Amino acid sequence: MRDIMAPESRRWRACAQVFADVVEPAGYELVIPPLMEDLGVFTRIGDATDVVTKEMYDFVDKGDRHVALRPEQTASICRAFAEHRPVLPWKAWYSGPNFRYEKPQRGRYRQFDQVGVEALGVDDPHLDVEVIALGWEFYRRLGLQQVGLLVNSLGEPDDRARYMGALEAHFDAAGDALSEQSRATLRKNPLRVLDSKRPEDQPIITAAPTIDQFWSTAAGDHFDAVQSGLDALGIHFTIDLKLVRGLDYYRRTIFEYQGGTLDSAQNALGGGGRYDGLVEALGGPPTPGIGFALGVDRTLLACDDEGVFTAPSGVVDVFVVDTTGGTAALAITSELRAAGMSADRAYDNRSMKAQMKAANRSGARFAIIVGSDEAEAGSASIRPMRVDGEQVVVDRDSLAHELQQRLQEEP
Ligand code: HAM
Repeated sequence: MRDIMAPESRRWRACAQVFADVVEPAGYELVIPPLMEDLGVFTRIGDATDVVTKEMYDFVDKGDRHVALRPEQTASICRAFAEHRPVLPWKAWYSGPNFRYEKPQRGRYRQFDQVGVEALGVDDPHLDVEVIALGWEFYRRLGLQQVGLLVNSLGEPDDRARYMGALEAHFDAAGDALSEQSRATLRKNPLRVLDSKRPEDQPIITAAPTIDQFWSTAAGDHFDAVQSGLDALGIHFTIDLKLVRGLDYYRRTIFEYQGGTLDSAQNALGGGGRYDGLVEALGGPPTPGIGFALGVDRTLLACDDEGVFTAPSGVVDVFVVDTTGGTAALAITSELRAAGMSADRAYDNRSMKAQMKAANRSGARFAIIVGSDEAEAGSASIRPMRVDGEQVVVDRDSLAHELQQRLQEEP
């Protein structure tokens, strides 16, 4: 777990703001679920996934409740839906930390942030397209160019079950040629063997049956409609029939955004898909759902690699230098901040020289200087700090207005 310090923290916040600007105009409302839930909420994610079986921070609280820090937010959002029953269709977005006990490395942390959406109550493939397009638009607004989109369909639960049976038979037949790790995975979830990166498994995975042979007509039609929708929006995608994703609740459409600059083990910038049964398992009526979560940590690493979406400036507009005791600085900073400008000052009544040094270091565009002359005359001096220019003396009453005008001028 890490501290996110400035300037990185500024970028973090700006990133969540870009996401809000993309999803809110599409009708998604912010939901802030608790960081901790009853363990049972998360075990519904599936007992064949490492996220649930190995990586959860769970413990018994002082009231003897078995709780867990959330490893993701889809289950929490579905639990919230089951509890509050908002009108359908319901579109929610979220942003915040999640916890997984994973081996930390670049792009993989024990506390990491996600932004995401979940849309409940609609089976229409247009919604799949909308959701996928929102994630795509988010990456576009950050300026990322090297993001790939992989899509697949896991079919209906029956299709998936038949496919899993076929995969199990295929991998079983490979016997010892399959790595020991994959043989263990096979017992828990044959789909996840497809995720193996071990060289000895690759020829066996390549020869494995693919899910499209098992799609029902309805699942195939749904997937066709999703592809046509993405084409219609000009969103470039690759069909990856071996994409399975790491959580057990998916059916039909699944997708992943991959960062072209990241190591293959951590290149999933985000992903999602359709799920059903989750709302039901959490006490609600049968309700279809689709969503995604995008990893903020990894997304910002990808931005570093591509040299885009750098931290916004933390520099203040003005810095107040007051050599008359500091009360003028107190009043002026307060007045300027209230007028919407960013203003900082020096403290401890230091010398003019020390205060001007601090003003320089702050990077502010203007220094406001109040010395004994100004104090006597009820005025203040405005000194441009970044460009050559005249220092001017203005009336204290017109200071805020004068500054606002100057700040609007270039640069
Ligand atoms: P997920 O694939 O487990 O899906 O996580 C989504 C994204 O979160 C990943 O692609 C990755 O960028 C980021 N992430 C996951 N684990 C870590 C980690 N340890 N360190 C850094 N980043 C990480 C979900 O969480 C689903 N809830 C997505 C979803 C929403 N499906 C439907 N709705």
